[in-house]
Parts: sequence; C-alpha cells; structure tokens
Amino acid sequence: MEKKYSSLIQTLKVKLEACKTENELLKIKSDFLGKNGLITKEFSTILDAEDKKYTGQQLNLLKNQADSLITESSAKIQNLLVSDNAIDVSLPGRNISEGTRHPISITINQISNIMRGYGFRVEQGNEIETEFYNFEALNIPFNHPARDMHDTFYVDTKKLLRTHTSSVQIHSMIKSGAPLKIIAPGKVYRCDSDPTHSPMFHQLEGLYIDKDINFCHLKGILEKFIIDYFQKEIETRFRPSYFPFTEPSAELDIKFRGKWLEVLGCGMVHENVLKNVGINPKKYSGFAFGLGIERFAMLKFDIRDLRSFYENDLSFLKQFRGVS
Ligand code: PHE
Repeated sequence: MEKKYSSLIQTLKVKLEACKTENELLKIKSDFLGKNGLITKEFSTILDAEDKKYTGQQLNLLKNQADSLITESSAKIQNLLVSDNAIDVSLPGRNISEGTRHPISITINQISNIMRGYGFRVEQGNEIETEFYNFEALNIPFNHPARDMHDTFYVDTKKLLRTHTSSVQIHSMIKSGAPLKIIAPGKVYRCDSDPTHSPMFHQLEGLYIDKDINFCHLKGILEKFIIDYFQKEIETRFRPSYFPFTEPSAELDIKFRGKWLEVLGCGMVHENVLKNVGINPKKYSGFAFGLGIERFAMLKFDIRDLRSFYENDLSFLKQFRGVS
C-alpha cells in the first residue's frame, strides 16, 4: 500500500515538474485532489473502522504532502511568469495624477505670507453672519444706503452670507480687544453675476489697532505690500472714498500696464466701530483694508476672465503646477 502511495507522489512530482502554467496546475490539482482525484479515490478503499485508523492517517499524510507540493509549484509558476517576461516589468508605471494648488489658494498664501512678515496673524471667520457683524457693528445701520451696495443672500430674516470679510474685524476685536494685528482671508457673497462679477468671490481683510496708529502707517504698509506682492516697483495712489466703517476712507489704485486700477478699499477704523466693540477710541486707533483676491490673482497671473477661477477646467488649473 505505502508503495502505491509513494508512486502516486512520484507521479505528481513528475507532472508538477513539467507544469508551466496556472491552468495546467489547476488540472493537476483536480486530477489528484479533486472529487474523483487519484488521492481522493484512495479514501474509498478504507475497509472498516479499524483500517481507518491506519490507512486514514496514511492517506491524510499523503493528501497534505500533495497539497504542499502543489502550493510550492504555484509559487514557482508565479515567479516564472515574472522572469519569463510574461509580465513586462520594464513597462512604465501607471501615472498617479498629481493635483495642483488653485490660483486663488496660491494668491491667499502669497498675500498671507507677506502680511505675516509684517506681523499680522491670520484669523478665520464665518461665512454665515448675523446682520450685527456684517452691518450694524460696522456702522451700517438698517436704513443706511450703503446696504444697497451689498445686495445679499439671506439665510433667514437675521442671518446672511457675509458680503465682506470686514465682519471678521468685529469678531476679532470683541474676542481679543486691542492691540490687534490680523488678516482674514475668505469667501464673500454678493448678488452679482456677469463676466467681471461672481456671486461668490474672495477677500482678504486687514486690521491693525494699537496706540497712535495713523494714516501714514496705513500708507506705508500697503505701498510696501504692493511692491512685495508684484515684486517690482509699482506706482500707487490713494484716492478718497467712502466706507461707513472707516474715516477717512480711501481706495488704493495701482498703475498697471499704463492704466490706473483700483485694487483695494481702506481707511482709519471709524470711532463708532471701536465703540461698538468696547475699545476706547481715545486710547486706540487703527486702520483696516479689504482687498479682492481674484483681482490680485488676475493681475499677477495675467488671467483675463474671472470665470476661469470657477470652471474647474483642468487645462487652466494645470498651468499652476509648481507655483506656491
Ligand atoms: N469691506 C469693504 C468692501 O468689501 C472693503 C474695506 C475693508 C474697506 C476695510 C475699508 C476697510 O468693499
């Protein structure tokens, strides 16, 4: 009997030796261990319970041995496939497509880094605001005509999508008091949509409150900022303007390709605003500014259509690979 078993194993070994493919291997496995396999059939030769003890044990050993021989061969065939060039290891790998930063994020990072260098800390604000933070505390009372310029999206009767990042000024002053030196980048919303206006766009707010801050500090920092951002000398001018939350107020224009372009609003924080947040205007003064991120990105990267920012066109976005 044992002789028969060892000759079975011998036959199996010879077949496995000659086997080159996984299909052949499956066939061999079924020929020996399948339902009607040569080894399986041997189990039916067991005579009785007494015989089972001995023959059964021998057959189980035989089966295990066959099993491990087949497993070994399977590993060999896998290796063979690779070394036989059945799998071409010289083929180029599959591309993992790498993302790029969005030009708006790049611009926010660039401006924030410059401002951090001047000592401003970055604050986050809420996109849904109450009228208090978006208007009232900023000296824009309910009936003020300036609210017209901020045609807005209301979430309910008292809450709206913020129309400017100036609301973060109020949060920061209430939370931290004076002195304070912050910037706040983020999304803002206005009821506007045409080639040069989008209902959602990005602003970056700046606020500097301390003792004896005056308009010279405002001019100095913003003029330096323009040079640092564009990395060249650029002519600037401060044009008188009006914002309810600053007095005096100005708009900053820059000379770009021979034309004056308005790039941001700014001014000295109105004393009503300071009072509204519990800062003593006799002790502290400050300046604020708000700039449009899209405008700064368009000028630097020479982007002509505002809508390019929001269309998610990969051929546009991929141009910013490597820019940080
Ligand atoms: N919040 C103003 C706007 O959205 C910009 C601004 C900010 C002006 C701070 C002055 C001071 O137009």
